[in-house]
Amino acid sequence: MEVIIATLDELARLAAGAIEKLVRSRPDAVLGLATGCSPLPIYDELVRRHVEEGLSFAQATAFTLDEYVGLPAEHPERYLNVIEHEIAERVDFAPGAVHGPDGLAVDLEAACAAYDEAISAAGGIDLQILGIGTDGHVGFNEPGSSLASRTRIKTLTEQTRADNARFFAGDLDAVPQHCLTQGLGTIMQARHIVLIATGRAKADAIHQLVEGPVSAMWPAAILQHHPHVTVLIDNAAASRLQLADYFRSTYAAKPAWQGV
Ligand code: GLP
Repeated sequence: MEVIIATLDELARLAAGAIEKLVRSRPDAVLGLATGCSPLPIYDELVRRHVEEGLSFAQATAFTLDEYVGLPAEHPERYLNVIEHEIAERVDFAPGAVHGPDGLAVDLEAACAAYDEAISAAGGIDLQILGIGTDGHVGFNEPGSSLASRTRIKTLTEQTRADNARFFAGDLDAVPQHCLTQGLGTIMQARHIVLIATGRAKADAIHQLVEGPVSAMWPAAILQHHPHVTVLIDNAAASRLQLADYFRSTYAAKPAWQGV
């Protein structure tokens, strides 16, 4: 696990750089895209590189991490719409190239199984962008999630619903209670995972992810078992890390050309 503590601008450049390197070497790469505020600076940087430097996603495919159950197709907070709005329609993904679990399916369990199959059929995810919840969830794998789980239906915790009420004009009742999420086992199959987190509210979750025991209480800690994870955090999110000074000196000594 590589942990980089830097400014938000630098974190966004590092993540965008990893995506650019992948897509330029393999234009038909499979990307995993996350919602939430944390990845937005990465998407802005990708859009800039698309507009100013010709970075193209025309042959790429993308899979979103999760989806609310039951939000109408046109709802602005439906995660497929969020991803379309924040990144897909701002660059040049081909129509239909961005996939999400179907939170409106009549048979939700079948939709979850179909989603895992679609990811496999695409060859698996090359690079997965992740955020992290204040309770240590990734995707919507809440505390108590099976560390080997596949895409499935989950019930959101009250904390997550309260955290996400900001996207529903502060109306907790408007936040769905259920979601579909890639499982931790699904996420672990991505070949490179880039997790971004900023702010003091994420400091406990980052401490548990990087330094905690691997436990379903802090689901993100399963990433300690992944061979290629990059954790991109600012000073505030790093504020509980015992190893912060080590991570800072390691990054300071890293050759600039190396990337993540
Ligand atoms: C939601 C998403 C997660 C995301 C989390 C954190 O719960 N399902 O994928 O990581 O929000 O969001 P933010 O980055 O806005 O703090």
